[in-house]
Amino acid sequence: MEKITIYTPGSASEILVGENWESVKKLLPENGVVIITDDNVNHLYGQRFPGFPVFSVLPGEDSKKLEIVEHLAEKLLKEGIDRNGFVLAIGGGVVCDLAGFLASIYMRGIRCGYVSTSLLSQVDASTGGKNGVNLGGTKNILGNIKQPEFVICDPSLMKTLPVQEYLSGLAELIKTAVIGDADLFIMIEQNYREIMNRDYDLLTTLITRSVKFKAAVVSEDEKETGLRRVLNFGHTYGHAIEMQVSVKHGFAVASGMELATEFSFEKELLPASEKEKIISLLNKFGLIVNHKIPDDQIEQLILHDKKKSGTDINFVFIEAIGKAAVIKVKVGEVIDFYKRFRDKK
Ligand SMILES: NC(=O)c1ccc[n+]([C@@H]2O[C@H](COP(=O)([O-])OP(=O)(O)OC[C@H]3O[C@@H](n4cnc5c(N)ncnc54)[C@H](O)[C@@H]3O)[C@@H](O)[C@H]2O)c1
Repeated sequence: MEKITIYTPGSASEILVGENWESVKKLLPENGVVIITDDNVNHLYGQRFPGFPVFSVLPGEDSKKLEIVEHLAEKLLKEGIDRNGFVLAIGGGVVCDLAGFLASIYMRGIRCGYVSTSLLSQVDASTGGKNGVNLGGTKNILGNIKQPEFVICDPSLMKTLPVQEYLSGLAELIKTAVIGDADLFIMIEQNYREIMNRDYDLLTTLITRSVKFKAAVVSEDEKETGLRRVLNFGHTYGHAIEMQVSVKHGFAVASGMELATEFSFEKELLPASEKEKIISLLNKFGLIVNHKIPDDQIEQLILHDKKKSGTDINFVFIEAIGKAAVIKVKVGEVIDFYKRFRDKK
């Protein structure tokens, strides 16, 4: 088991990779705990949950909304949860984002911890303390930063994850490798079969490396004023693709990474050989999807990007595998590149 600690002003959060999720009982207070999960995870694992009240939401992104936060807050009140209460999330990124947000605002903030059950949440969503809900079609627009006290990442939970969800998480793992860990990139390149077989030991190593990278970034820049922006690699185009094409988050991000990699090459920041390696790894796992977003829509989607400030956008480019650079570019240039890329394909 690997323990990675994230130190941010006023808090320390422990990520336990390779820990048996059922040992979560040891980390909880004796009373005042509520468990938030979704129906799929509850159906598969609910019988082995610690003996506290369980509130289960419908699986999927649609549960990440204020209405559900309100509904859950009412349940907590009815249950008599006070300022000493504890919210335990057991689920993927949706459940962790929702439960983390609830814990951050209920009685102005109560304790929380996560058992992270999807690959996407283990390698990305549950490290860093960001939480939030969607508003209409706009993702994660209402949210907060609150570090959970602990996150358990047990790779054995991957065995029951549907393949599309697993691959979606793999895209975020490849993102980490491309922006900050060249050795991780080689491990992913060389272990196709073990990855597809969800090999426990290999997954423990890969998840640990990804969490370590993200933890180092978040410890330095919790509020995303500088370094943390590199984590958005592939997300400017990825979010636009996600809004237009009905695909899982990771597939949209992988397709956004293809675009950002080509953009880096066009700007002569990245050599052709490195570009080919990145795109061929994304293709090897079948992560790049078709997208042809019409002119007016790509313009609107990029204009609404959270990383935009005025007429500029903090765009994440790649200079080598394992090395990202955030460079301000004109929003118009980002839109134009998309159109040229789309029309050439
Ligand atoms: N807070 C952050 O920093 C951050 C970062 C990246 C993504 N996110 C958010 O994470 C969310 C996506 O996360 P996700 O991909 O985990 O989605 P998810 O939580 O919807 O889980 C995906 C599906 O897998 C099921 N599932 C989860 N664990 C399972 C298991 N062990 N076995 C079987 N089924 C299982 C779920 O029920 C769901 O149907 C998005 O809302 C995204 O915005 C947050």
